[in-house]
Amino acid sequence: MKKIVGIWGSCLLFLSGCSAINSLDVLNPAGSQAEEQYSLIKLSIYIMLIVMVTVVVLFVRFVYKYRARPGYTPEKHQENRNKKLELTWTILPFVLLLILAVPMVKSVFGEEKQDNRGAMKVKVTASEYWWKFEYPGEGIVTSQELHLPKGKRVVIELHSMDVIHSFWVPQLGGKQDLIPGRTNKMAITPEKVGTYQGKCGEFCGAGHSFMRFLVKVDSQKDYEQWVNQMKKDNTSSKLNSQESDGRKVFEANCLSCHATSGLTSSNQGKEGPNLSDFGDRERVAGFLPNTEKNVQKWLKDPAKVKPGTEMPKAKGLSNKDYTALSAYLKTLKK
Ligand code: CUA
Repeated sequence: MKKIVGIWGSCLLFLSGCSAINSLDVLNPAGSQAEEQYSLIKLSIYIMLIVMVTVVVLFVRFVYKYRARPGYTPEKHQENRNKKLELTWTILPFVLLLILAVPMVKSVFGEEKQDNRGAMKVKVTASEYWWKFEYPGEGIVTSQELHLPKGKRVVIELHSMDVIHSFWVPQLGGKQDLIPGRTNKMAITPEKVGTYQGKCGEFCGAGHSFMRFLVKVDSQKDYEQWVNQMKKDNTSSKLNSQESDGRKVFEANCLSCHATSGLTSSNQGKEGPNLSDFGDRERVAGFLPNTEKNVQKWLKDPAKVKPGTEMPKAKGLSNKDYTALSAYLKTLKK
């Protein structure tokens, strides 16, 4: 018994994603595409319930009715042909499948026919194991946290730098693959202000389960404010002596890959995630809470935190350098 409880308990934990912060919730939609998909999920569950209840009721009834008992000969009850019954169990599933298929096909083709003129565009690029978000209309770039305005249709262009990944924000819409050498598209329309969990939905290597991101949906006004802040240079902010030491460490070790300007036109490093709003981010490396302790843990041994990451370990840095570096990274705020 204990074993069974243990197994079921782990299954439930697995299904729930272990904690609320990591929840990938399909049943709590916050966007119009997700809402539509949720209604299709409900429809298929209702149909499945009808089938399941019917089958279970008939099963129990027949098990009882035709049970072995003295004086009962099953052969007498065998039926060879029953046209009515055969027609019923052929037509009924067909009708049920039709009820399921029509709204699904309508939903898929309806989405394809939508007018995308006037929609906002975001280019998403996946690499092992992080996400880049570019806003061509606004001329800004960021990583790991996607900011979107509420109530606006957003066309997302999906690219991959290496292997197949999959863009998935369950509360905002379905999954779409990012395939190297190919551009896929999907649209989402966030309808509620909030922070939503995103994840790579395609097994892509050792760091796949850590390939997470956040989608922050703001009111139009707050979103515009964020865009304006992203366009500003934040490298001129006043630094204390530890932070400016950290800046020197950063410039010598990190700047060739990581930009600290959020402008797409900036000629700073583009290989790695853009860090212009790193101090504002909730997470480091895409999945750890953005605390000084975690930042240092990540910087000191990236491969230990996220297996398979391309972020190298810096050579010859002292503990003091790491402390200064993490203090400097905190100052990268909008
Ligand atoms: Cu990228 Cu899984």
